[in-house]
Amino acid sequence: MLNIESNVEECVSDNTNLPRVGVDSTLAMDIQGISVVFRAYKQRPTTLKESLLQRLVKGKVQHYSTFDALKDINFSVKKGQVFGIIGSNGAGKSTLLRVLAGVLPPTSGKIVTNGTTDSLIQLGAGFDPDLNAIENIYLNGSLHQQSKKYIEGRVPHILEFADLQDFAYTPIKYYSSGMSARLGFSVAIDRDPDILIVDEVLAVGDERFQEKCKAYFDRLIAAGKTLIIVTHSLGMVETLADEVILLSAGKIVFKGTPADAVARYRDPDYQTRLHSQ
Ligand SMILES: Nc1ncnc2c1ncn2[C@@H]1O[C@H](COP(=O)(O)OP(=O)(O)OP(=O)(O)O)[C@@H](O)[C@H]1O
Ligand SMILES: [Mg+2]
Repeated sequence: MLNIESNVEECVSDNTNLPRVGVDSTLAMDIQGISVVFRAYKQRPTTLKESLLQRLVKGKVQHYSTFDALKDINFSVKKGQVFGIIGSNGAGKSTLLRVLAGVLPPTSGKIVTNGTTDSLIQLGAGFDPDLNAIENIYLNGSLHQQSKKYIEGRVPHILEFADLQDFAYTPIKYYSSGMSARLGFSVAIDRDPDILIVDEVLAVGDERFQEKCKAYFDRLIAAGKTLIIVTHSLGMVETLADEVILLSAGKIVFKGTPADAVARYRDPDYQTRLHSQ
């Protein structure tokens, strides 16, 4: 029996020390032949007796099966571009963003990066639920080598952007998911990265916060920064993005303008093929 939920492990690749220094100065990122293979463990024998019996009956047993989450992904993102990634649930979008953000080493392939990268993938990852917002801002800042004095100056801005001034001293374990996401988003954007990688973060914020985020993206774009965004909001992709890839079962099935990519994704033939796979 496969137990993907509780028994998953990411295959660790030989590419842990990926080259992340750029060569072509017009590119923010160059993604070359990225593949990710996950292992899903099957139910393992729990006792020595079970294990010996299994070996006697079946010989040496492989306790996992492999799953190709990304297959030979190639594309490049130009500096100053808003790059969209769309596709159905399980297509591999978040896995790809985790690789781009350097959180997940790919099984094979290479990424060339120009500039500082920040990712809004697992908002609030690294936050301590028992600490309040201010303490978490200090914790996060110190993890990013910021000085105490610098963080002190940034705290009011972060709380203001997150609209959490009234909850600054509440342990974040009592925050709603939207409030935690707002704090995570505000902390990450305060680092002012050259390349911002965003995974569906707007989905949990309320309308007022979503408007703030969109205004922030506009400022980012005007400042010539690069934005790589995954979203199910096709309207947002069409208004924001310059170029889009459509992922399906871990492969790029389309690369082009937002209008064409969205049209392809919505195409009834494409949807029929997707759901008959
Ligand atoms: N750590 C892991 N171990 C095993 N399989 C995984 C792991 N992480 C993701 N997967 C699998 O990889 C596939 C792609 O997952 P991913 O989260 O990238 O999809 P997605 O395109 O972001 O979907 P969604 O739109 O639902 O967010 C899925 O089948 C998922 O079950
Ligand atoms: Mg996802």
